[in-house]
Formats: sequence, structure tokens, C-alpha cells
Amino acid sequence: MTYSFTSVALLCCAALTVAVPARRASSAYAPVGAPCPAQQLVRQADGVSSAESDWVANRYGKTSEALATWLQNIDSGFEISSGHWRDWHGKRQWSDHGSHGQAPIIGLTSSGGGYRAQLSGAGVVKAFDGREANTTKVSGLYQALTYHAGLSGGSWLLSSIVGNNYPTISFLQTTLWETALQESLLVPAILVSEAARPIYGQVVDQIQAKVADGYQSSIVDPWGRLLSYGLLLGTAGGVQDTMSGISALPNFTSFNGPYPIITALGSDLNIDGTCIPQVNATQYEFHPYEFGSWDQGVDAFVVTEYLGTRFSGGVPVGNCITHYDQLGYVLGTSSNVFAAVCSAIPANMTAAATAVSLAENLAYLANPGAQGISEDQIFGLWPNPFQGYGPSSHVAAQKTLDLVDGGVGVGFQGNPIWPFLHRDQVDVLIVNENSADTVGNYPNGSEIYNTYLAAKAAGLSRMPEIPTADVFVAHGLNKKPTFFGCNSADTLTIIDIPNVNYTFNSGEPTAKIQYFKNETEAMISNGVLIGNYGGKEDWPLCLACGIMKKSGGSLPSGCEACFAEYCYN
Ligand SMILES: *[C@@H]1O[C@H](CO)[C@@H](O)[C@H](O)[C@H]1NC(C)=O
Ligand SMILES: *[C@@H]1O[C@H](CO)[C@@H](O)[C@H](O)[C@H]1NC(C)=O
Ligand SMILES: *[C@@H]1O[C@H](CO)[C@@H](O)[C@H](O)[C@H]1NC(C)=O
Ligand SMILES: *[C@@H]1O[C@H](CO)[C@@H](O)[C@H](O)[C@H]1NC(C)=O
Ligand SMILES: *[C@@H]1O[C@H](CO)[C@@H](O)[C@H](O)[C@H]1NC(C)=O
Ligand SMILES: *[C@@H]1O[C@H](CO)[C@@H](O)[C@H](O)[C@H]1NC(C)=O
Ligand SMILES: *[C@@H]1O[C@H](CO)[C@@H](O)[C@H](O)[C@H]1NC(C)=O
Repeated sequence: MTYSFTSVALLCCAALTVAVPARRASSAYAPVGAPCPAQQLVRQADGVSSAESDWVANRYGKTSEALATWLQNIDSGFEISSGHWRDWHGKRQWSDHGSHGQAPIIGLTSSGGGYRAQLSGAGVVKAFDGREANTTKVSGLYQALTYHAGLSGGSWLLSSIVGNNYPTISFLQTTLWETALQESLLVPAILVSEAARPIYGQVVDQIQAKVADGYQSSIVDPWGRLLSYGLLLGTAGGVQDTMSGISALPNFTSFNGPYPIITALGSDLNIDGTCIPQVNATQYEFHPYEFGSWDQGVDAFVVTEYLGTRFSGGVPVGNCITHYDQLGYVLGTSSNVFAAVCSAIPANMTAAATAVSLAENLAYLANPGAQGISEDQIFGLWPNPFQGYGPSSHVAAQKTLDLVDGGVGVGFQGNPIWPFLHRDQVDVLIVNENSADTVGNYPNGSEIYNTYLAAKAAGLSRMPEIPTADVFVAHGLNKKPTFFGCNSADTLTIIDIPNVNYTFNSGEPTAKIQYFKNETEAMISNGVLIGNYGGKEDWPLCLACGIMKKSGGSLPSGCEACFAEYCYN
């Protein structure tokens, strides 16, 4: 039996009265006041921060080595001995990219699509991770990634990896996910069961503590909290974990894994009355060092650690706030599909209900004891760091930024590609597409095409040309990996890897909120095959050829056949 976001069918019929525990004096979920640092906290979006570019330069020392090892294991014909292989090229003009035989900079994106996307995307990471027990020729590529971006379900995957200090997928699967997804807290009968009562009490307590300190709660608070118990290993659902806190984790400070980026969209309900994000909606990004948007109308970043602080014209008003960037609240914001109702949501939290929606359960938890949530509370609510800031003309009058799922709205873009159209130093982007475009919940190319259209409209030239979904389907590109931008020196090379059902029906509905352990296992195993193109013999070499195509060094002779087979343009 499966449960859905909108209509939750319940097995149990016993009417349960849920005791709301008394609020403890303090809770680690509430934001914390702190003196403001001397450094400037808000800046215009004129390039990546020096913190990020320094980190990436250090990471390059690891990725260039890992990439060399991976390539050599595939074919000795890849030229990695050039004196330039380890030359950091972040400060070069991107028009020079690859012309001197440097190791390319590679990013991975994990799309949205609920638990389907988390698990399928996890399989792809597992396929690429050289630490796993079972290796293939594609194993070791994860160690060569500089960036990993996640959106919605992809942000759940990314947060679970990075927030737990970069363990393997096998570890997360057996230690955390299999049980969490089988005993899903999103199912009301489970949430209010005797076994889960301590968690239920903690969540209520955590949210009440935030409200008691004067912050407005939203549906994203209980949503992010309940998800986090299945994603973060820290005590009380990773309540101490913040996006900025990642920058202090040992594997981050040792440059041992990719730099994480989570995306979300702005809603303009309180700007011009448009609730659903339009094609030109502002794309925001959260990462350990900064939060903000490159888009015209915002064009600014703030230091992530100080999110929650009130600003005027880029300067803090009064004391600073920290811990607002709670990691569960970030991943809940990135996956906030509830805003699509565009109205207040009544509260109902009863395990016996047969037709109560998940949104109604969450509305109950967001405002314990109240009648539901107001229209304002359907968003991820972020005190606007760009209030009164000159370059941020579109949002400067707003007290709060209203954020929703990164892949919803008009012109759906299910993959977090946007951040890489603004990071010139990235050469190759592996796009793992687990969106549900078809009736069977598989991708058909339309989301990446929408990003291409939006990039064109915004004048972003790093996006390679992408064909329409009709062409994708007609050429079967929705069922196999494809390279875009092989022949255009000035764009990213995009390596699109779609969800395909090799050994399991991986087109599970986005709304499926409960997976048996064997389903979690089967989804991840199928995902491993997605990353390894079903075990197709030429794939490891061809993947390597695609990554190295524009790097300027000599290539094995086998690459020509690969380009003929995998390069769309
Ligand atoms: C390794 O792969 C084999 C064959 O696919 C499988 O039977 C085994 O369970 C895998 N082991 C692990 C640790 O994943
Ligand atoms: C941290 O990085 C090391 C070295 O890559 C790795 O062995 C370990 O699995 C990583 N993760 C954790 C949680 O320690
Ligand atoms: C999107 O375009 C419309 C029409 O030009 C404009 O009114 C709106 O402000 C734009 N939205 C953003 C977020 O820039
Ligand atoms: C909650 O839903 C149940 C089942 O639909 C219904 O019987 C009950 O009256 C609802 N409670 C509230 C407060 O709306
Ligand atoms: C692809 O999916 C989108 C979104 O569901 C749909 O509107 C479109 O008709 C589909 N196109 C093809 C060719 O399947
Ligand atoms: C995958 O999907 C195809 C087409 O719908 C179907 O024929 C095949 O049986 C499926 N395979 C698996 C393993 O689910
Ligand atoms: C998973 O196990 C359940 C029973 O625990 C069974 O009903 C179901 O068919 C199994 N699913 C798969 C995909 O093996």
C-alpha cells in the first residue's frame, strides 16, 4: 500500500488523542542571536565569493588526482601527464577553458521527484563512488566532482550525504534510509503511533520554541523536521545541523567531497499577487558560504550563517541571527510543494482520518493548537537579507522572501542546472534527471529544455542547445545518456543521465511517501545501473571521453566512436 501527499489512506482505525507536551525552556531548533561580525555580510552577485573560490581551488588538488586515477583505470590513452594537468584555472577566462590540458572541473546535479529522486539519485552517486564495496569502471568519478547540486528530492539526497560528513550511500541506506522510509513519519498513523511519540513530541517542541522566540512558523517547519529524521543522523533529527555548519565538517574542511548547492524558487505572491512561480521566477541557491540569487532583481548574496538577520540596505539592523539556516528548513524549502495550493490550509491531525491530506497534518504541526495556517505560512519564510538593498530592486521592499520548491511552477525546471550557468570555471555538468514528466513518472527531456529556454531568455551563454521533448522522445534520448555541447567550445558539456527502469520500476510516483526496505534497496540498485548505463560495455570509456572532450589533451582513439554515439551536438 502506498500513501500520497494529497490523500492519505490509513490502515489503523483507533482514534488517538495526541498529547502535546509542554514546551521545554529552550530548543536547539530556534534561531540564536549573536553579535554581528565586522565583515560585510551582503554583496552584489559579481562572481563567486572568495571563500568558495578558495575552497574550490583546494578541492582541485584532490579532484585532479582522482580524475587522473579514474581515467588511467579506463584507458591509458587519456593525456593526464601534461605539465598543466594540476594548474588551477579558476581565475582564467572561460573562453580559455580546456585549451591547455588542465583537469576539467565537474559538477553533478540531482533532480527533484520526492523519494524516487532521492533513491534513484543515490544509486547514481553509489555507482560513481570509489569507496563502495562493489566497483565498476565508472567507480571513482564521484571523487573527481567539485560540485553537487540538489533540488527538492535531490536536496534530500545531497543533505543526507553532506550533512552527515559524506558517508557512502551503502552506509546511509542501511543505517538510516531503509527504516526511515518504511516507517515513514509522513504517514499520520505512524507519526502518532506509540513508537514515534517521542519524535512527535520533539517536533512540536522544536517548532513551538521557534515561534516563542518571535519567528513565524510555516508548513516548511514540520515538513523539514519530519524529513530530517530520515536524512540526518544528528540527535533529534539533526536539529543542530545548519547549512553554514557544513563548512566546519571534517570532510568539508579536508576538501574530501563536492561543494553542495541547494536551490529554491521565489514566489511573488506578496510582490504582484502571483503565487505560482512563473518562467522568469527568481532562482535562489543555498550553500555553506552564501545564500542568494544571480538573477536580475535580486543580484546579491548574503553570508549563509547570518540568514535570519534583519538587514536594511545590506547592513544588519540590530543584532545578528544565526541558526536560521537549519539544514532541514533548507531542504524543506527546496521541496516545498505545498505552496502550490496558494491558500490558507486547515489543520487536521488525526490518525483515524481516511481523507486528510499531508498538508493538513503539517498545518496542524506548524501551528499547534491553532485552526490551521494562513496563506503566508505556505512558504519557506526567510527574513529578506536584501531588504532596501539597491541592486535587489525586485525584492527590496519585501520583509520576507517567500520560497518554494525549486522545480515547481510555470516552465518546470526539475534539475538545479542554473547555478552552473553562473560559474564559469565549471567545464562539465552531469545532469541526473529523475523528474516525472510522463504518465509513468519518467523524464522526457522537457525540464532540461525549459532550462535551456530560460537561460536563453536570461542571456546565459554557458547552457548548450537542448532539443525539445518531442525530439528527445523521438530519438530515445529519454532512455539513454546523451552529451550536449560536445562541439561548442564556449558552453558547458552536459552529460544527461535519465532515470530508466533497468531492474526495477523506478518510475515511482513523486507522491509516494513510504517505501518498503526491499523497494529502497531495489530503487538504489537500479540507480547504480542508471549511473553505469545498464552495464553497457562502452559506457565507462565514453563517459570519460565526454568529460575530456574539450580539455585540450590527446584522447584515446576509441573516443571518436563514443562521440558519434553519445554527442547530440
Ligand atoms: C555486489 O554485487 C553483487 C552482484 O551484483 C551482489 O550480489 C552483492 O550483493 C553486491 N554487494 C554489495 C555489498 O553491494
Ligand atoms: C570522509 O572522507 C574520508 C576520506 O575520503 C572517507 O573515508 C569517509 O568515508 C568520509 N565520510 C565520513 C562520514 O567519514
Ligand atoms: C517576470 O516577468 C514579468 C513580466 O515581464 C514581470 O512583471 C515580473 O516582475 C518578472 N518576475 C521576476 C521575478 O523578475
Ligand atoms: C479531520 O478529518 C476527519 C476525517 O476527515 C474529520 O472527521 C474531522 O472532523 C476533521 N477535523 C477537523 C478539526 O476538521
Ligand atoms: C513531456 O512531458 C511534459 C510534462 O509532463 C508534457 O507536457 C509533454 O507533452 C511531454 N512531451 C512528450 C514529447 O512526451
Ligand atoms: C521497464 O519498462 C518497460 C516499458 O514500460 C517494460 O516493458 C519493462 O518490463 C520494464 N522493466 C522493468 C524491469 O520494470
Ligand atoms: C517487498 O516486500 C513486501 C512485503 O514485505 C512485498 O509485499 C513486496 O512485493 C516486496 N516488493 C518488492 C519490490 O520486492
